[in-house]
Amino acid sequence: MTIKITALPKEKCNTCPEEFSFGVTFSDHMFIQNFDQDKGWIDANIGPYRPLSLDPSAAVFHYSQEIFEGLKAYRNANGGINLFRPEENIKRFNRSAKRMVMPEVDENLHLEAIKALVQLDQAWVPDQEGASLYIRPTMIATSPKLGLGASSTYDHFIITGPAGSYFSGGLTPISVFVADKYRRAVKGGVGEAKTGGNYAASLFASEEVSKLGYSQVLWLDAVEGKFIEEVGAMNICFVYEGKKIVTPMLSGSILPGVTRDSILKLAPSLGYEVSEQQLDIEEILADIDSGKITEVFGCGTAAVISPVGKLGFKEVDHTINDCQTGPVSKHLYDELTGIQYGTREDKFGWIHKV
Ligand code: PLP
Ligand code: COI
Repeated sequence: MTIKITALPKEKCNTCPEEFSFGVTFSDHMFIQNFDQDKGWIDANIGPYRPLSLDPSAAVFHYSQEIFEGLKAYRNANGGINLFRPEENIKRFNRSAKRMVMPEVDENLHLEAIKALVQLDQAWVPDQEGASLYIRPTMIATSPKLGLGASSTYDHFIITGPAGSYFSGGLTPISVFVADKYRRAVKGGVGEAKTGGNYAASLFASEEVSKLGYSQVLWLDAVEGKFIEEVGAMNICFVYEGKKIVTPMLSGSILPGVTRDSILKLAPSLGYEVSEQQLDIEEILADIDSGKITEVFGCGTAAVISPVGKLGFKEVDHTINDCQTGPVSKHLYDELTGIQYGTREDKFGWIHKV
């Protein structure tokens, strides 16, 4: 891998709060390599963050052959930098690649590229509480052809940028609308791959619910419209009587979140019971209304742990914990971010130091 340092570093401001809204500021460098059917992956390099030059007929623009990932680098208590379970994101990247008929990448090279990039742009890793460097690995199909079929050339690139809370209120509960008219993904489709088309397909419903004052959509299964799947940018968990955490089982149409998996492993060590189940929306709403469900929260890399204060379904709002952040969400948030920022023991071996 060759590394070229930009001659024109951007001016950055580590103290401006607006810098830390999510996904709008990008660091100085990027990793890129290209794939050619005859040569395989070639020209791995890190250079200045820059625009890509692509043919307008490039396959990605027409048929959405694209995948991406999201992970974070955290400034730890000693001033060093932690990556959280990057190998899980790399494995998921290659699973998504396979599903989208794209070439897999070398896992070691991908991890080395992330580490080298973060090391080079380490000044961009924020040290403010709750902020981190968001890392976005991506692969796009670049063959200039309109005939429908897998591309024969690809770009694999990684960009990074300082990021704060995904939702503007931080740990303040968000309101979520349960989609009754639209569906996100179906079993046998690409719902469990992290591919851009899943997100493009969700935008119409997101716009509709945002006009009604909700910030996210909760998707139901596409066949019966009965079972809970996931939220637009995160998986979802329900807390029963402050003790048991229940989340939809992986159905093949939802994203197997790294944060979801981390909670399923971390929560039992903190005394909670966990369960992955098929969850019927009507039963869940009844359990919210009766008070059996004491908290609801979403979980994801960008979203971290986001309490849900209100679930809207068919014109009725179901309020959870008086729209306040509950003790279980706060406990899990503190423990998970504690491991990520290095203030809690890394008892599962999840941290890679840069
Ligand atoms: N579900 C969707 C649709 C997502 O976009 C995300 C975020 O990446 C998640 C779930 C949570 O996944 P992870 O915890 O790996 O970030
Ligand atoms: C992430 O959490 O990393 C994601 O990719 C979700 C995205 C919609 C911001």
